[in-house]
Amino acid sequence: TEKIIIDTDPGQDDAVAILLALASPELDILGITAVAGNVPLHLTEKNALKICELAGKPATKVYSGAIRPMVRPLVTAEHVHGKTGLDGPDLPEPTMKLQDKHAVDFIVETLMREAPGTVTLCPLGPLTNIALALVREPQIATRIKRIVLMGGGFFEGGNVTPTAEFNIYVDPHAADVVFGSGAPIVMMPLDVTHKALTTAKRVDTFRRMGTKVGTATAELLDFFERYDEEKYGTDGGPLHDPCVIAYLLKPELFKGRDCNVEIEIGSELTMGMTVIDWWGVTSRRKNAMVMRDIDHEGFFNLLIERLARL
Ligand code: BDR
Ligand code: CA
Repeated sequence: TEKIIIDTDPGQDDAVAILLALASPELDILGITAVAGNVPLHLTEKNALKICELAGKPATKVYSGAIRPMVRPLVTAEHVHGKTGLDGPDLPEPTMKLQDKHAVDFIVETLMREAPGTVTLCPLGPLTNIALALVREPQIATRIKRIVLMGGGFFEGGNVTPTAEFNIYVDPHAADVVFGSGAPIVMMPLDVTHKALTTAKRVDTFRRMGTKVGTATAELLDFFERYDEEKYGTDGGPLHDPCVIAYLLKPELFKGRDCNVEIEIGSELTMGMTVIDWWGVTSRRKNAMVMRDIDHEGFFNLLIERLARL
């Protein structure tokens, strides 16, 4: 099994990513850390608890983390995710409690305790918690097995500004710390996730599962896809964050290459842009494996097969 920490701002697509991880015996979830992003922290931490309970996994450890980005004010996305961040299903208030420890302490302590090269970080939101951990204990950079993250975009452009994707835009300074850390990175940009569309037929498959998780997933996706369907005219919405977990389970579903990636933190116009040297026109260090393609049929088959287990 692979030991992972999921860092997240749920978020309907975060929720589906968490469900996929909880349903997969290949993954040992050491903890889930919440960060401010799609909605403020008091909601993302509560949403993380709700999802663990929905999955029937109340022993999962959930930690609360950074309440705001490192430098810039918090920008949220209620217009996409609804005012709870998890609009759609009517999930009960969680009875599970948050762990006492701060998420950043948990990340640092876990990486310093576990054998080097054995813990994978899975950031699904702004990178604030991960960057704060790297600043607090720089030694963790060489102990992380890899960081598989959802963020950025290149040929596809951005979804908050013409050039910036939400997770990177919200905390570009954190992203800059992470991409400059030297830890191995696998990046799932919009170029991949915009090809992982829910479609009416796929949502129906979840609905027909006849389980609590299947029904809730269909309701989450029904709500979530509204925004993108209207904005981009697609059939369904993009399942961004589950791509990260799917990569851990079946990397062969994705295609990409090693590139240099730098984060724009200077210009207001292009703030949070991921500047990706896809063509290798510079000699800058290749610091990330950047994905560009996904076998979306294989991806949804995996998701459906796994969620049916919960
Ligand atoms: C990312 O932003 C959030 O709205 C989603 O949960 C995803 O992590 C996509 O840009
Ligand atoms: Ca997210």
